[in-house]
Amino acid sequence: MQDITVKTATVQSVIHCGAGAFESYAHRLKERQLFIVTDSTVNKLYSHLLNSVFGESTPKFVIAAGEKSKNTRNLLAILQKMLESGMHRNCCVVAFGGGVVGDIAGLAAALYMRGVHLVQIPTTLLAQVDSSVGGKTAVDMDGVKNVIGTFYQPEEVIADPRFLSTLPKREIRCGLGEIIKHGLLNAEIFKKLKENEKRLTNLEFLEEVVYSNIAHKAKVVTEDEKETNGLRKTLNLGHTTGHALELLYGKLSHGEYVLIGTYYELQIARKYGICGGQYAKDVEKLICKVLKKVPSFDGIERAADLAVHDKKNDSELISVIVPKCEGECAEIKLNKEDYKQYLRQISDNLRG
Ligand code: GLY
Repeated sequence: MQDITVKTATVQSVIHCGAGAFESYAHRLKERQLFIVTDSTVNKLYSHLLNSVFGESTPKFVIAAGEKSKNTRNLLAILQKMLESGMHRNCCVVAFGGGVVGDIAGLAAALYMRGVHLVQIPTTLLAQVDSSVGGKTAVDMDGVKNVIGTFYQPEEVIADPRFLSTLPKREIRCGLGEIIKHGLLNAEIFKKLKENEKRLTNLEFLEEVVYSNIAHKAKVVTEDEKETNGLRKTLNLGHTTGHALELLYGKLSHGEYVLIGTYYELQIARKYGICGGQYAKDVEKLICKVLKKVPSFDGIERAADLAVHDKKNDSELISVIVPKCEGECAEIKLNKEDYKQYLRQISDNLRG
């Protein structure tokens, strides 16, 4: 078990990472006034554990599992229950679940009485390697992802691999989407992924890479908490196209769409002569190890209309972070028509 620290101008967040982290750190939270937020799937699996660690009388809000729950209605309902439960300024919100739980619970913690304590206990691979670290909190509105949110750092994150063993295969693929993204930004992680291509979904291997992924993200967030100097923006690799496809088609998991987005954006980087050769082939191979087949999409050009409204853009141009070479990425800014055309061509090639 190891600790990783995220230090920003205003707070220090400690991430307890590794086997035994839950056992060692969750019990200590009992001394505080707690409010648990979780989802229906996680609650079914772990309500017994939550009751035994935190006690049955600890107030808990259970959202329905799935991205659709990340909405303003649930956000207000959580705040309402916090108020009804008599939560005071010194209370602590415990986000126990995956990315959706972390995002909405984090935002509730940021808003309640202008901000109360927050502890993230991520139970999915995606939440452990990405969303629980770095303080992004949000809900979606009118089909726009993460449009209402704030940066709000958790005081502690407890990332314990014990929760990964109950994850369905799709959730593992979902987390691998963000792990491969980190691999394209960090040469050491990339090397590890390439060397272990045959055991990417193996739990022992995942336990090993969770630490290096959290460490990468913690370093980025420490240097650029609020995406002001461009470093944190690199974490959007694969996400411009991935988010748009997720909103349009929505059948796969977030991480799978990130991988598909990464594949499409890699082809755009090839067209621009930014990425190529053996490295581009290695990236494709890694993506295909997880996805088996990268899909084509009917009507994919509609993704451009969504991407233009993405909050990652600071103008009418669409910002796309693409892989460049080992450990390095680049930003391309595309106009809507060019982006549409590239997406259509890449999708047609996949069909052909
Ligand atoms: N998931 C990207 C970020 O936290 O910045």
